[in-house]
Amino acid sequence: MIKILNEDCLVGIPLLENYSIDIVCTSPPYNIDLGNNKYHKNPYDLYLDNRDHQQYILWLRTIFEKLYTKISIGGKVCINIGDGKNGAVPTSSDIIQFMKELKYIPYTHIIWNKSQVGNRTAWGSFGSASCPSFPTPFEHILVFYKENKKIQKMVGKTDLTKNEFIEWSLALWDFPPETRQKEFGHPAMFPEELPRRCIKMFSFTDSTVLDPFSGAGTTAVVCKKLGRNFIGFETSKTYCEITEERLKFAKKEELYEKLIDINEVIDSNYKEPIKQLRIEDYR
Ligand SMILES: C[S@@+](CC[C@H](N)C(=O)[O-])C[C@H]1O[C@@H](n2cnc3c(N)ncnc32)[C@H](O)[C@@H]1O
Repeated sequence: MIKILNEDCLVGIPLLENYSIDIVCTSPPYNIDLGNNKYHKNPYDLYLDNRDHQQYILWLRTIFEKLYTKISIGGKVCINIGDGKNGAVPTSSDIIQFMKELKYIPYTHIIWNKSQVGNRTAWGSFGSASCPSFPTPFEHILVFYKENKKIQKMVGKTDLTKNEFIEWSLALWDFPPETRQKEFGHPAMFPEELPRRCIKMFSFTDSTVLDPFSGAGTTAVVCKKLGRNFIGFETSKTYCEITEERLKFAKKEELYEKLIDINEVIDSNYKEPIKQLRIEDYR
């Protein structure tokens, strides 16, 4: 089941069933004045990305507060966010703070190394220690859980390969940003690799994934490919239509690689980190 709802998530979330969401994978607007920002000239279709910072944080807090009862025990919330003004507006820290106040428990903090910055011409005071500029070629993926670190609802199975598990369980992820934004007609998409890693690392097949800021539907497309259920909210009708178009071409993937095998992992060179894992973690 893949559902794209042209709805404000503040209206849609309260209508979800309690404990029905196993993983949230999302990227909210970054509040960087997209469209008027000198590095980001294309605005969103409807959303105005220039709230007062405190109002913006309060708005996000209200959304995640409404979400709490909807998440299953052991469910994960993955939030992809970039800080504003080269880190001078630390949005990621503000999110961690309010998530803890809302009783979400921090699980991990992954750094997504995009190896790219919008522009390197803003040098600050070039060559001087008085006021150097620090462009940030990375974003954050903040992961939280509800009540219990371990998933309680055993639906489906793990679809991670051994290599994916080994590579992705290091909290520094290297992959490029989405390059097809013009083609799809959305100014701030994440690449499929981001929800793919989060969803495979933190949920079983047949789980239900929510993206409250669905945009051009990247999380939806990945869910279709990975055999997850998906619910997405998006205020722009145009972005919902783009998502429906993308979904027509997304096919469920066959699991052609050998799935992770606990005995093989124990025999491999990765004895140290694996030692603490239990067989049940792989069921
Ligand atoms: C950063 S984009 C998400 C892009 C998405 N990850 C993708 O790859 O296509 C944030 C999206 O949130 C949407 N949005 C803003 N406020 C919203 C709200 N209250 N409810 C639902 N969607 C909202 C915007 O229209 C925008 O498309």
